[in-house]
Amino acid sequence: MRKLQTAVLISGRGSNMMALVEASRAADYPAEIACVVSNKPDAKGVQFAAANGIATKVFDHKAFPNREAFEQALDNYLRSMKVEAIALAGFMRVLTAGFINGWDGRIINIHPSLLPSYKGLHTHERAIADGAKVHGCSVHLVTQELDGGPVLLQAEVPVLAVDTPDALAARVLTEEHRIYPQALALLSNRLIAETP
Ligand code: GAR
Repeated sequence: MRKLQTAVLISGRGSNMMALVEASRAADYPAEIACVVSNKPDAKGVQFAAANGIATKVFDHKAFPNREAFEQALDNYLRSMKVEAIALAGFMRVLTAGFINGWDGRIINIHPSLLPSYKGLHTHERAIADGAKVHGCSVHLVTQELDGGPVLLQAEVPVLAVDTPDALAARVLTEEHRIYPQALALLSNRLIAETP
């Protein structure tokens, strides 16, 4: 079975990446995790990926003179690994239009809010501060507009009166781990149908 060669980009814990790796182990899952890339040398997720036999690479963005040089190195690596799609999983670097255009329709991101609400950072704090009754997560295609591309899948969770940002984040994260593998499967099936 053809599986879409997918890179997962992380910056830290990597729990969403782990959910994608677990899902990709199923024989009938349409994506294979070809590599895990981090922009942070100490990202915990890198160790998990390496221990699971997945190619890993660190591009420390601080070691590059500018964003373009960082992205060029990243792009060269992904193409050398025959990557066909990119899943951003807690990857906390904004990608430039130049990079995104080179992967048109092939980058997805998981964001901890019901987009278009709460783009950007501190989504759980802001939802609680607003008195929101419902919160959640979204997987969307990455376009030049930050957290603004077409949504592929969303999941809702209730916001409880007693919620702290951490408690709400944990409830949302459980849903992230459920829908991100589903969304990558949707993208993979679509792209494989285009290029069997
Ligand atoms: C996740 O909650 C993800 O939605 C969020 O960072 C966390 C990463 O956790 N992403 C963003 O905020 C992107 N702007 P993980 O490293 O355990 O997957």
